[in-house]
Amino acid sequence: MSDRTAALHLRSLEEPDAFWGEAAEAITWRSRPEQVLDRTAAPFSRWFPGGVLNTCENALDRHVAAGHGDRLALIHDSPVTGTVRRFSYAELRDEVARTAGMLAALGAGRGDRVVIYMPMVPEAAIAMLACARIGAIHSVVFGGFAAHELAVRIDDARPVLVLSASCGIEGARVIAYKPLLDRALELAEHRPHHVVVLARPQAEAVMVAGRDLDWVVQVAAAAPVDPVPVAATDPLYILYTSGTTGRPKGVVRDNGGHAVALHWSMANVYDAHPGDVFWAASDVGWVVGHSYIVYAPLLAGCTTVMYEGKPVGTPDPGAFWRVIAEHGVRTMFTAPTAIRAIRKEDPEGEHLGRHDLGRFESLFLAGERLDPDTYLWATRMLGDRPVIDHWWQTETGWPIAANCLGIERLPVKPGSPTRAVPGYDVRIMRGDGSAAGPGEEGAIAIRLPLPPGTLPTLWGDDDRFRASYLSAFPGHYTTGDGGMIDADGYLFVMGRIDDVINVAGHRLSTGAIEEAVAAHPDVAECAVFAIPDELRGHVPLGLVVLKAGAVRDPDELRAELVAMVRDQVGAVACFRDSRIVQRLPKTRSGKILRATMRALAEGREVAVPSTIEDPAVLDEIAAVLAPRVVP
Ligand code: COA
Ligand code: AMP
Repeated sequence: MSDRTAALHLRSLEEPDAFWGEAAEAITWRSRPEQVLDRTAAPFSRWFPGGVLNTCENALDRHVAAGHGDRLALIHDSPVTGTVRRFSYAELRDEVARTAGMLAALGAGRGDRVVIYMPMVPEAAIAMLACARIGAIHSVVFGGFAAHELAVRIDDARPVLVLSASCGIEGARVIAYKPLLDRALELAEHRPHHVVVLARPQAEAVMVAGRDLDWVVQVAAAAPVDPVPVAATDPLYILYTSGTTGRPKGVVRDNGGHAVALHWSMANVYDAHPGDVFWAASDVGWVVGHSYIVYAPLLAGCTTVMYEGKPVGTPDPGAFWRVIAEHGVRTMFTAPTAIRAIRKEDPEGEHLGRHDLGRFESLFLAGERLDPDTYLWATRMLGDRPVIDHWWQTETGWPIAANCLGIERLPVKPGSPTRAVPGYDVRIMRGDGSAAGPGEEGAIAIRLPLPPGTLPTLWGDDDRFRASYLSAFPGHYTTGDGGMIDADGYLFVMGRIDDVINVAGHRLSTGAIEEAVAAHPDVAECAVFAIPDELRGHVPLGLVVLKAGAVRDPDELRAELVAMVRDQVGAVACFRDSRIVQRLPKTRSGKILRATMRALAEGREVAVPSTIEDPAVLDEIAAVLAPRVVP
């Protein structure tokens, strides 16, 4: 590693107060923090206690105040509706201020929760910033989740308001959101005061009198409000993410640490600066959307692109290159799956050749492992431009490992997201808690304290935070991923070592899918685990044991289970395959050996656990998996 990256990384770990104290200078504080890092309640830590700020003011108002009101803040490009909308910083500030006025008029205030269940429309970003403006805590739920998943999140967050839209548009299909929301509100115990619905012309929403209100009417009647001061340690948002059980985890993000870390990451990780056009082709429902569609580009004074479309089919595999050319995108961020989808339809980059990518400088990929094949193809297509794999998760909110282009461009090793980013002390642990050596695979952990911007806890559940992340290796945060660090300090992330799966860059819990499958009246027990998929990286597969006496046609049963998972979890789970088995492999204490089955499906060498009840079951499972085993 070169001196510059190494020196910065070392300093961030040895002198976190000085390092992050300097980074905090880039943020506008109403009151400066009294301290940088407070570890008195370790293993919990708090960044910038005593600091008072407003995240929305930092994202919008201060740029307007500095004379940049005319600069483009947000470009909404929607091939599915054939529209492009542009907002300058002044226009976006005004929209957000009025929307914040609406939220306040409907009773939302500092510390109240607001659930946002919306497609990729500018109003979704406006709603998030409006919450931040009044100190309300938003919780965005991804539109691809079904009613049950939404209900679970509503019951945990207990929002005063739910904001939604009449529909989302998925390629050529209109997906009505309101019936899903209505059903979720029937399922949930908690009752919000109001539901505010953005009516889109593509679908009409049936409104419940007294509860449901029209977005446009409410905003028009509202008076704009100024940003309210909040504590640096106050929550900005809760983002539910899949854990190893069916119950999602409410990742909390604070205001101060988040603003400082995200602002720092724009310049140092992404090499993105005020006025640059930055595009994260994700969804506001995921952490990438929170951090790099909404907050970070605006905190840094960039222009952010919000894209309502797909990499292919809207209308063709040149869609991404068209957006880059049309809006002068300098830095793009997407998931490897999207690149695989483009490559499949346009292997020689004919569509790419039709667009002027003159201002395009770098492509960042995350959300799942970047396989060397996809990396090499993207590199071949994009010539000299860096293609950067970087690794992070909802919990951290910004990259843990990356080739930090803003510091320097390090040589790439395909298959590696390069090195730990300053602020993160990444370690590889053996099962017994000792440190693994170079090149040795183990669990990836991060030595505490985590840097600013990462989760301080789980919403309303300090105990679960401790148990889920801090107990496996005392003094360390457990990432849930496995991997190794080579002799040059390059990290290789091999994938999840728990029951979380990544499907097309979407994070899902096999536990949630299992709950849906297990609810089928003919299913005695089941196991859901990830199997490799050429396009999506992984997809879930369900193995089911039928109840005694049940005789089912496998295809019919599969269709029923697929429908149940779509209904309970959502289409985004991509649950499309199930097999009937006589029994599942278990330990003598009854634990289902999912990791062993995953290894079988991947064609990896299977270490048969010594605690297995009956090793012969593995042969039966291998036979059932055979058609899907990768070569
Ligand atoms: N609202 C409602 N439904 C949604 C949805 C949303 N926001 N997002 C996805 N879905 C649905 C899809 O319509 C699809 O439904 P179907 O089974 O009825 O066809 C299902 O969920 C699966 O979605 P997906 O896996 O995304 O499949 P796709 O065929 O629509 O698109 C890719 C495939 C590869 C183009 C797409 O997955 C992609 O662009 N992936 C990149 C992911 C990404 O950006 N992740 C964020 C992390 S950076
Ligand atoms: P999410 O919380 O949705 O961002 O998903 C986080 C998980 O996605 C991580 O724990 C990894 O398993 C996976 N992931 C994200 N980025 C990468 C990457 N660059 N390489 C390998 N895995 C990744």
